[in-house]
Amino acid sequence: MVHCVILPYPAQGHINPIHQFSKLLQREGVRITLVTTLSYCKNLQNAPASIALETISDGFDNGGVAEAGNWKVYMERFWQVGPKTLAELLEKLDRSGDPVDCVIYDSFFPWVLEVAKGFGIVGVVFLTQNMSVNSIYYHVQQGKLRVPLTENEISLPFLPKLHHKDMPSFFFPTDVDNSVLLDLVVGQFSNIDKADWIMCNSFYELEKEVTDWTEMIWPKFRAIGPCITSMILNKGLTDDEDDGVTQFKSEECMKWLDDKPKQSVVYVSFGSMAILNEEQIKELAYGLSDSEIYFLWVLRASEETKLPKDFEKKSEKGLVVGWCSQLKVLAHEAIGCFVTHCGWNSTLEAMSLGVPMVAMPYWSDQSTNAKQIVDVLKIGIRTTVDEKKIVRGEVLKCCIMEIMKSERGKEVKSNMERWKALAARAVSEEGSSRKNIAEFVNSLFNLQQ
Ligand code: UDX
Repeated sequence: MVHCVILPYPAQGHINPIHQFSKLLQREGVRITLVTTLSYCKNLQNAPASIALETISDGFDNGGVAEAGNWKVYMERFWQVGPKTLAELLEKLDRSGDPVDCVIYDSFFPWVLEVAKGFGIVGVVFLTQNMSVNSIYYHVQQGKLRVPLTENEISLPFLPKLHHKDMPSFFFPTDVDNSVLLDLVVGQFSNIDKADWIMCNSFYELEKEVTDWTEMIWPKFRAIGPCITSMILNKGLTDDEDDGVTQFKSEECMKWLDDKPKQSVVYVSFGSMAILNEEQIKELAYGLSDSEIYFLWVLRASEETKLPKDFEKKSEKGLVVGWCSQLKVLAHEAIGCFVTHCGWNSTLEAMSLGVPMVAMPYWSDQSTNAKQIVDVLKIGIRTTVDEKKIVRGEVLKCCIMEIMKSERGKEVKSNMERWKALAARAVSEEGSSRKNIAEFVNSLFNLQQ
């Protein structure tokens, strides 16, 4: 049996899609071992029983980035310790009679390819973010786009004209250690042309032109998404009930939703990493409580102290939870709108479930995703910020009302339905992503002949 090791970047938004991709490979008869860092693994609340789990070290086994203190220290040590401990793991699996044929690794870890080549096994890059975002970073890596940006309007092949507000946050100075993160996202492409395959969590119909262009540069590039549990997307796997691999506890909110009328609730979430400042959280709280709409808001425990003192976390009108099963929530018929930070997984999930979005990008790739959501796919509307870069409660309220109650909201909803159908088709039996996955799996089976 072909044995693949899967190595995601240790963050929820990276583990989720590669884990879903692993399940599809398993269905085709590939054996999977999921590998994460010891520090991430220690806090897992939920790990699927069907997939073997192993660990490597990032050099900070007790707390990952938090233990390191900053991204620079973390990455430098991880880049030294990671390759060594991955090689030790591959040797261990080999010795125990369980040799590995292929490593599928997050594009944030280009060093994995050298380890894989050292063992003479197949190395497959997994791009968690979409091809439009990757194309921007690739142009920087190629020296064709200069950072800091010199022009106001950026033109890149097969992308819409981009303004600064549409560009990834790592191009601009903030309080985060941006230069390290910029190196990380640009470094993804340092050896990508040497990988045996390049998989991307997108689908052909979604990014046609940029995908065709990418396949010309990297002939082994394939779009294989959306990587979303098939229980939600196309019921391809009947026993696919797990919520994935998570470090967070899921709160019970389905019961609260059950009482609400169809499409009457706005779901608000900023993913697994965004840390909003207190002023922003207060504005969100006022905007949501002032609107006429029910709301379900995911606010991680670490953020709760920023809520206004008199704000009720549970009422007839609204519910604040620390974490939820986002796919199950988005699939609930009570949900009519998604206020999102535009993480790529959240975007694909909303699309696959046909929920129109209010785009409120926070950092990383999210502004570019917001551009796609609003101007290219037309499946959402974007909030505006004031001079302090805050989305005011009034602005949020208007955007939610526009999606839920206006003619434009109806148009957005109908565009969303079209993309929902295309997403489902891409992963169906004859769909573009499904065919790409089959081609890849066949190439793995051919190794054993
Ligand atoms: C980050 C980037 O923002 C994203 O664009 C990139 O592709 C991956 O890294 P994150 O900010 O966490 O990810 O957002 P997102 O990509 O949306 O991923 C969050 C995941 O957590 C989604 O799969 C979502 O379903 C899940 N989630 C989020 C939950 O299951 N429950 C929650 O309460 C919130």
